[in-house]
Parts: sequence; C-alpha cells; structure tokens
Amino acid sequence: MIPDSFFYQIFESLPRQGPGCSGATRKAWSFLPPIHKNAAVLDIGCGSGTQTRELASLTPGTIVAVDNHQPFLDTLVEKAGRDGTGWRIKTICASMDALPFEKGRFDLIWSEGAIFIIGFENGLKTWKPFLKKGGFMVVSDADWFEHNPPQELLQWWEKEGYVPASEDEMKERVNRAGLRLIATYRLPEAGWWDNYYVPMLARIAELKKTRGADPTCAAILDSLEEEAEMYRKYKRYYGYTFFVMQKV
Ligand SMILES: C[S@@+](CC[C@H](N)C(=O)[O-])C[C@H]1O[C@@H](n2cnc3c(N)ncnc32)[C@H](O)[C@@H]1O
Repeated sequence: MIPDSFFYQIFESLPRQGPGCSGATRKAWSFLPPIHKNAAVLDIGCGSGTQTRELASLTPGTIVAVDNHQPFLDTLVEKAGRDGTGWRIKTICASMDALPFEKGRFDLIWSEGAIFIIGFENGLKTWKPFLKKGGFMVVSDADWFEHNPPQELLQWWEKEGYVPASEDEMKERVNRAGLRLIATYRLPEAGWWDNYYVPMLARIAELKKTRGADPTCAAILDSLEEEAEMYRKYKRYYGYTFFVMQKV
C-alpha cells in the first residue's frame, strides 16, 4: 500500500496523473456528434485537470470536474483561471463511487485513466444514471493490444492488482452496461511519455536524492520506475484505449 502523502508528493507537481495527451483528448472528442453549446459536462477523476482544460477549449458549455484530492482541484482552478475558462469549470471534491448529482444531469461524462479505480464495467454502470437519455460517455482504460502477453508482463500486472482485458472483452462490458459503442481510439505512445513517464521519471530522480534513504519511499519510487520500464519493454502488448459511448 502506498502511503498517501508520499504518493501525492510525487504526483502533485506532474502535468498529468495518468497517461494521456491533449491531442488524444481532441481525437476522442472528434468521434462525438456536435454537442450543443450549453452542454453540461462531467469530468471524473480529473486530477490536476489537463484534460478538463482541453475539454473547456472544445465546448463553450460548463464542466464539473470531480476528484477526491483537493490539491489537484486547486491546481486546476488556478490554471483554468489563467486560461480564462475558470468561470465555466466547477470543481467538486467527491468520490467517483458516490457522486453528489441528480440523475440525468449531464450531456457528456468524460474520464481519462481513472475508471480502473472502481473497475471499468462497474464505473460505466455507476456513472450512466447521471447522463441524460442520448448523452455520451468517453472513458480511457488499459487493455491488451495483443493476445498472449509475455509472462513477465502478466505477472507484473497481477502484482499491481489489475489485469487488463482484451478490447473485445471491454466491448462486451460496454454492452453489459447498456451503452452503445460509437468508437474506440488507442492512446498514442507519446501520450505515455511526454506528459507522464518523462516528468515522472525526472521527479523520481529528484525524490531519490532527498527521500531515497527511506526504505518505504525507495520501494515506491522503484515500483514506479518499474512501471515505466514495463511500458518501455512491452508497449506493443497493452495500452490505453478510449471508449466513446452513448446512452440510448
Ligand atoms: C490516474 S489519475 C488520472 C488523472 C487525470 N484524469 C489524468 O489523466 O491526468 C486518477 C485520478 O483519480 C483520482 N481518484 C482516485 N480515487 C478516486 C475516487 N475514489 N474518487 C474520485 N477521484 C479519485 C486521483 O486523485 C487521480 O487524480
């Protein structure tokens, strides 16, 4: 178990808290039909909100951004204020499995790299009631890109406590959640490095100097390095896929 405070010390200063990039946010958005200009959007597990701010550039509507770590939300508020979009973004510190909204409130629910926290299918089923009829949901999550992943990779995912499913299985889960799949889109490799592993590895090198002597901290930093190394070695076998869906 990662001690929360140290974990946040690593991630608070990073541009993103999970794999992703603005180009991919825009690409996933491009699969949606035109959304009306007063659309109500919900971004779940927004972190410090890089994709929230990208969404604000794609819609003139309002965005509610939810995360359970207030300092991430504070960063989002500060940056969106500088962008001039802060007045359209409302942040709420809440848990994604107990969202404080009335049913049928949102035209679009967005979530990048966060649904794994409550499980893909469970997340879809839990969030769907907050969509209007005909509303859209876009989420990204890890899945296998190839069958028969190497044993070392499989064991690493098992150790992490989360084993990806195939894209076909993910599509089945979308079906079971009663959503219509419009499109899938794989996050390009740059989305893993530029805003995520590259700054994370730099942050790890920095923290090793000050906290590396503490065995608990050192183990955490090593395990994050191992995660990046797994991706470097085995990126053709897995990745993140965006699922663009509609509540019909
Ligand atoms: C992997 S990060 C993704 C952040 C952001 N979407 C991105 O792509 O950079 C997952 C986020 O979910 C948040 N989170 C973790 N558990 C949560 C929960 N139960 N409810 C709401 N947010 C949660 C974390 O604080 C973190 O910001």
